[in-house]
Amino acid sequence: MEHETTELSREYRGALADAKLTPLWEHLSNALPHGLPAGLTSANLWRYQDVRPLLLQAGEQVPVEKAERRVLVLSDPGRGQAAMQATGGIYAGIQLILPGETAPTHRHSPSAARVVIEGKGGFTVVNGQRCDMEPGDVILTPSGQWHDHGHDGVGPFTWLDVLDLPVFTAVESSYAEPGRASCNQEDGQATMQSRFRSNGLAVAHSLQRTNPYPMLRFPWKTTRAALIELADNVAQGESVELSYVNPETGESCLPILGFTAIMLPAGQDLTPARRSPGAVFHVVEGSGESSVDGKTFAWSAGDTFTASTFAQLSHRADTAKGPAFLLRIDDAPLHKKLGFFQERKSA
Ligand SMILES: [Fe+2]
Repeated sequence: MEHETTELSREYRGALADAKLTPLWEHLSNALPHGLPAGLTSANLWRYQDVRPLLLQAGEQVPVEKAERRVLVLSDPGRGQAAMQATGGIYAGIQLILPGETAPTHRHSPSAARVVIEGKGGFTVVNGQRCDMEPGDVILTPSGQWHDHGHDGVGPFTWLDVLDLPVFTAVESSYAEPGRASCNQEDGQATMQSRFRSNGLAVAHSLQRTNPYPMLRFPWKTTRAALIELADNVAQGESVELSYVNPETGESCLPILGFTAIMLPAGQDLTPARRSPGAVFHVVEGSGESSVDGKTFAWSAGDTFTASTFAQLSHRADTAKGPAFLLRIDDAPLHKKLGFFQERKSA
């Protein structure tokens, strides 16, 4: 709530406006609300079964070469129509590529990641490194790296795009560069070396060069198997979560966005701490229900929902349908770098 504004004379207000000055005391509680941030994000569920037909219509009406990227953006209802963000720090959209199409090469200042939803035969090339894309895989296209997407298979191929775009927009640093048609051909050396590095092996003479992103593809097959193994080795009621990290440093795989795979054993409630970062949750497998600040979202594979900063959450997989697997994408790495990351006990 703004402070009472009547004590200032009209003349004084006019003089302040002319001088491009603003009295802080009238805006202090908006700028620095007490106790908790006053976010705009309004938690929302986007069901894949609702998005998919609209995306396929875009496939009929919008050629990819014209669109550059054929994406329907998940616009935060708390920010009004056409919001280019799902939460305060995260842009999310669902992208479609059809057989034989190429989403042309470009690069941009924000970092992106893809979470594959549906299809066979899709791939992304990042700075010459080909990443095959299978459902549930997370593929990184870090800041400044050339990337394009293609589809050698049949049928629609879709994925969730997440970017730290709102952060770059806030600091007026968001921009892109188009690539030349041939600038992102697969480089067999890059693909091979990346495969080696994912297994802890580096070509010896490359060790002098630092690579902040040694792993660009996180296959779901590997993550899923690890979650199942972990679930057998945690105490009853303990969460089953794995973070996606740079395997050479143990740090988060991107500088601003964090990725965590969560397994929800059937019938168990997970009530995590309230955390400072807002989040986008994507359902990789299974079905269940989440409560986000009192809203109930019944979800199944392919769905995406959001949670604002310090949201009160609980998740539950359908008992009858076995475990469910969620991916949480948040801006925790940024909160940690800002020295602000917090967790508070759930109510
Ligand atoms: Fe891009």
